[in-house]
Amino acid sequence: MKISRRQFVGALAAPLILVGPAEARPQSFRLRAAPGKAPLVAPKGPPTQAWLYNGMSPGPVIRARQGDTLRVEVENALNEETTVHWHGLRIPVEVDGVPVLSQDPIPPGTTYPYDLSFADAGTFWYHPHFNSSEQVGRGLHGVLIVDEPEEVVRGLDADRDLLWTVGDWRLDRQAQIAPFKQFHDLSHGGRFGNVVTVNGSIDATERVRAGERIRLRLANVANARTFRPSFKGLNAWLIALDGHPVAPVELGDEGVLLGAGQRADLIIDMTMKPGESVAVVDDAFGEEYKYRLMNFEASEEPARPAERRDPPNALPPNPVPKPSLTDARQHSIVFEGGAMGGLDGARLMVGTMSEGRFLSMRDMAQLGWFWSINGLIAGDVYSSQPVLDLELGGSHVVEFVNNTAFPHPIHLHGHSFFVLGPDGRNLDGAPVRDTVLMGPGEATKIAFIADNPGPWMLHCHILEHQEAGMMGIVMVS
Ligand code: C2O
Ligand code: CU
Repeated sequence: MKISRRQFVGALAAPLILVGPAEARPQSFRLRAAPGKAPLVAPKGPPTQAWLYNGMSPGPVIRARQGDTLRVEVENALNEETTVHWHGLRIPVEVDGVPVLSQDPIPPGTTYPYDLSFADAGTFWYHPHFNSSEQVGRGLHGVLIVDEPEEVVRGLDADRDLLWTVGDWRLDRQAQIAPFKQFHDLSHGGRFGNVVTVNGSIDATERVRAGERIRLRLANVANARTFRPSFKGLNAWLIALDGHPVAPVELGDEGVLLGAGQRADLIIDMTMKPGESVAVVDDAFGEEYKYRLMNFEASEEPARPAERRDPPNALPPNPVPKPSLTDARQHSIVFEGGAMGGLDGARLMVGTMSEGRFLSMRDMAQLGWFWSINGLIAGDVYSSQPVLDLELGGSHVVEFVNNTAFPHPIHLHGHSFFVLGPDGRNLDGAPVRDTVLMGPGEATKIAFIADNPGPWMLHCHILEHQEAGMMGIVMVS
């Protein structure tokens, strides 16, 4: 069944910028950041005063085709500066949206152009990189979809392309956003919300038809929360992580683990009978805290007979260069600090001070620092010494060590990397990602060719950790 363009738009909570034949594709797009009301808990409660892109949270889905270019004009109608970072796009540092490293922040009342290009197909997202924990947490985030060439999309044989932008909010009894910069959030697991939304709504109903094959894109835009939705009772395959294809893996009872900032693409066959529904449960925090994230409700009228279908075709890989493990330089990054982390202290790097100043954990806390990278805190994060210097064009293996009591989704800008796992031996089958989630006490190795020159951010995507010391520069030159 092919559905009409109209139904396709209707299937998504956020309006979609449709990309038609080449001549009809938008060359430019306007994104306006401004305060506004979001119906997060409607109809059960009042609208929430939030910060929105084009009047909504999540912001509009920006959609392009692989190989395209697009100018996005960002208008800042907030009362503070902002920037937009295009999470996962391998683009030049000048358009990466990081204050100082890429651009001066956009002053209120002005507009700033970003010229984007889309080397990779997949599910990406965009968000501010200025006062990130508060700006993202107040609702500034949206998904960016880069479509594969048309014949590849057709080869997936999906009836529909659905998007669930999952996030959470800390709301008071009037459904208004609670204050930011809480000591406990900075030093523990980050800002967890008390209300989970999918596509900016607590409504947990997805209407489907029995027999449909759906491509479902998941994007975790929460400040801190990890999700693990499980598709038990349906036939589901994982086909991409952070936008990059993986050989289709049947999910079975296993959920899809999504740290903050991560994405996953699935193919799901609606194998329920007409009129039946299947719950998607998030059990990321165990039995005790599991809850229903969404309900697939099949209408009485089937799309086609619900039969067992073949696994989906694999998507072709994106043009990410393969590093050589034998020639690679080895590096190590140790993340430390936080509550129950046993850190004595770290050296705070400010200005041009090369040695920095040693602060005890207690002194750190008083200044709002809780985390360190290789024993250092990048005090002026955008002008501090790099935590890594990488030779341009070389193969690099970086070991990440999580010496803390909390999980951390670590994100590198400007590059996508192969996740090798703790032993770091095998490139075959290693997923390509831009954000890797490490549990407490875990370590993993990543490998990549440093082919994009510039100073790049490396940070935890728990935005309160990023703000409290878990952020540094990787210099590629
Ligand atoms: Cu999605 Cu530096 O961030
Ligand atoms: Cu973290």
